[in-house]
Amino acid sequence: MSNIVLIGFMGSGKTSIGKSLAKAYDKKFIDMDREIELENDRSISDIFEEEGESHFRELETNYLERLQGKKNKIISTGGGVILKDENVKLLHHIGTVVFLQASIDHILRNTSGDSKRPLLQVENVQEVIGEMLEEREPLYLKAANVIIQTSDKSIEDITSEIMAIL
Ligand code: S3P
Repeated sequence: MSNIVLIGFMGSGKTSIGKSLAKAYDKKFIDMDREIELENDRSISDIFEEEGESHFRELETNYLERLQGKKNKIISTGGGVILKDENVKLLHHIGTVVFLQASIDHILRNTSGDSKRPLLQVENVQEVIGEMLEEREPLYLKAANVIIQTSDKSIEDITSEIMAIL
């Protein structure tokens, strides 16, 4: 089985579903955001604040380049990974790309009160998420090999659904 790469908006469930899939398949789970934080010895918020979003985007591409050639991994990406065409090409070299598609309500519920996502530290969070979704949804859909709806489903059910397809 090739690697599975999870893409989707913040709060769509990439990390929880990734961990669950890794357990079910007995494969290693890689959370890209977490790995970037460890390698840089700083939180994503600090990287955004000190060096800006564009630097974080470079770190993402650099990390993806190094994932090529790895096997038997379940990989959870950051929500903005599809913003660069270059990254999307890399994702396809790495594995099967699964888009976890969530409704705006699901995303709002899962991200409410979140202080760790720099792009959501705004007053009008619902409006900002709506605008970002409008820009990103077509990119997720274009990048996806498989699309899975996650809203109102349990992690177990989503895991089984993915396993039945892949
Ligand atoms: C981002 C999503 C975050 C993280 C960073 C930027 C985005 O990851 O990479 O805060 O642009 O959507 P999650 O999707 O895991 O929250």
